[in-house]
Amino acid sequence: MKILSIVGARPNFMKIKPIYEELKSRKLDQILVHTGQHYDENMSRIFFEDLELPKPDVFLGIGSGTHGVQTGAMMSRIEEVLTQEKPDLTLVVGDVNSTLAGAISSIKMQIPVAHVEAGYRSFDMRMPEEINRVLVDRISQLLFAPTEDAVENLMAEGIMKKRIFFVGNIMVETLISHLEKSKKSKILEKLSLEKNSYGILTIHRAENTSDSKKLIGIFKVLSKIENKIIVPLHPRTMKILKDMGYLEKLAGNIIIIEPLGYLDFLALMSNSKFILTDSGGIQEEALMLDIPCITLRENTERIVTLKNGANILVGINGIKLLKAIDDLPNRRIKYPKPPLWDGNVSNRIVDVIIEQQELLAL
Ligand code: UD1
Repeated sequence: MKILSIVGARPNFMKIKPIYEELKSRKLDQILVHTGQHYDENMSRIFFEDLELPKPDVFLGIGSGTHGVQTGAMMSRIEEVLTQEKPDLTLVVGDVNSTLAGAISSIKMQIPVAHVEAGYRSFDMRMPEEINRVLVDRISQLLFAPTEDAVENLMAEGIMKKRIFFVGNIMVETLISHLEKSKKSKILEKLSLEKNSYGILTIHRAENTSDSKKLIGIFKVLSKIENKIIVPLHPRTMKILKDMGYLEKLAGNIIIIEPLGYLDFLALMSNSKFILTDSGGIQEEALMLDIPCITLRENTERIVTLKNGANILVGINGIKLLKAIDDLPNRRIKYPKPPLWDGNVSNRIVDVIIEQQELLAL
């Protein structure tokens, strides 16, 4: 059996790692395709290095663009690769434009699709990632759900039960297997940080960066708190702050740095006091690391992080944000961990791929 996996953006790389290793250990034929959606050294190559992933077999070099330009360019190139490689299954992960492009190109060529991280829903169609999630799940033959609520979402959309597999959270497997290695990171020394004394901010989502006044408002609010806030800045946000002439004005407790690799970021998160983010995966990583998370969004598809008390939503509202930071617990709390968020997720996924081949017939 030949499996072609498609990755492209930063949050894909940690999700493919354990699956890549599991397919390899079972001696299945696999091809790794990188669309090039993310191309900066610190958004892509460093992750391959940190995760010890091999160089992709195919690199498409697509780069940035509007959603239509980017997704369309990926689809036309992926189609060529699929024509040449003729895989039995295309595997896509997460909810980025590379995920959507891979899934559509594949199903149009009657090659079945497996989606890892199926069923997450924010129910907010203004989010490009939500559109990607809904469409990819609708056209996938094997749907690997990270949580029980994701399974329920898929069932509510009428997806056949036999195609849905509750396997747990793939990113958690990567986190568990890299935690020890991340302890060797020198990032705290480099930034002169004391353990448990600082917050982290990551902010890049279109809905938060499109209104630069709101974005700057968040930085202004954060400059009022006493903790240091480390901000590994996504290139999109960096560009906006630079264009506004605001980057030079940031001083005091706000420390802007380049985006970090996987191991340094894991070390930075593990030793932080709190995390502020508009990312999806970081909400889950915070829960696993028992670090309180404050999410700068109105909604989340990662419902379990709210249910388990590890995360709260404040939107892009400065007052709510300050109150949430004020209300943070003084001592570390051990949050309950969702079922199957463990080190065996890739094992369960590859079992299904091998055992359920009749589901691949279109
Ligand atoms: C994408 C994902 C988002 C994910 C994020 C992680 C979609 C729809 N969104 O958003 O879900 O959380 O990746 O980072 O796929 N840029 C660079 N260098 C890079 C990559 C991007 O400079 O290596 C800049 C470009 O100016 C580009 C902008 O960032 O226009 C946006 O990049 P894009 O990949 O379209 O989306 P992200 O915001 O990164």
